[in-house]
Amino acid sequence: MGESRPSNKKIASIEDLELTPTVLSKLMEAGFKTLESIAAANSAELASIAGIPLPTAQRIVVKARDLLGLKFKTALELRIERAKIGRITTGSRSLDALLGGGIETKSITELFGEYGTGKTNICHQLAVNVQLPEERGGLNGKALYIDTEGTFRWERIEAMAKGVGLDPEVAMRNIIWARAINSDHQISLVEEATNELLPNENIK
Ligand SMILES: Nc1ncnc2c1ncn2[C@@H]1O[C@H](COP(=O)(O)OP(=O)(O)O)[C@@H](O)[C@H]1O
Ligand SMILES: [Mg+2]
Repeated sequence: MGESRPSNKKIASIEDLELTPTVLSKLMEAGFKTLESIAAANSAELASIAGIPLPTAQRIVVKARDLLGLKFKTALELRIERAKIGRITTGSRSLDALLGGGIETKSITELFGEYGTGKTNICHQLAVNVQLPEERGGLNGKALYIDTEGTFRWERIEAMAKGVGLDPEVAMRNIIWARAINSDHQISLVEEATNELLPNENIK
């Protein structure tokens, strides 16, 4: 499983709606900058906010929902999708148990807590642990680390890699890092990573 080649399927984006430049710029100006925001929109509202005809808005919303796979599925398809979810050990048996076996892939996990409670440390540990073989709670994969507060420390990665018995240099090479300077930059880094890194790197 961990050895499978990363798929080359590009994740759908707003360009896949194949809009005319005029409609696209109207949507952008109205703040509909992602496929998700369009899929979640009400057609009538989208039409009035963006100043486009209602039938166009309806067609765009339906297409956005289709592209995101927001449509009917069979229970079997759901089972197959669930089976693709991987789990990464946090390194703590109790925390893994609380999370049902570790941090899940294909989802967002939010860690919240006071300053100094270990959120950043857990992120570092996960970036290392994802590289472990499955029998040790990893996924034989790489990590993408988008650092919004400038607290990523390669020294911690080096120490943690040694701690779990990975070659520190290999472990550091398997973590692709970028510093996001603000939320717009963060979104553009995610988009860039989605289109350029995820299809070529075994990032989990
Ligand atoms: N090398 C280390 N070994 C053990 N503990 C450390 C190390 N570096 C930092 N810590 C401690 O880990 C705690 C959690 O820090 P951190 O993960 O940055 O918290 P948060 O991101 O929630 O603010 C802090 O109290 C910090 O002093
Ligand atoms: Mg922190």
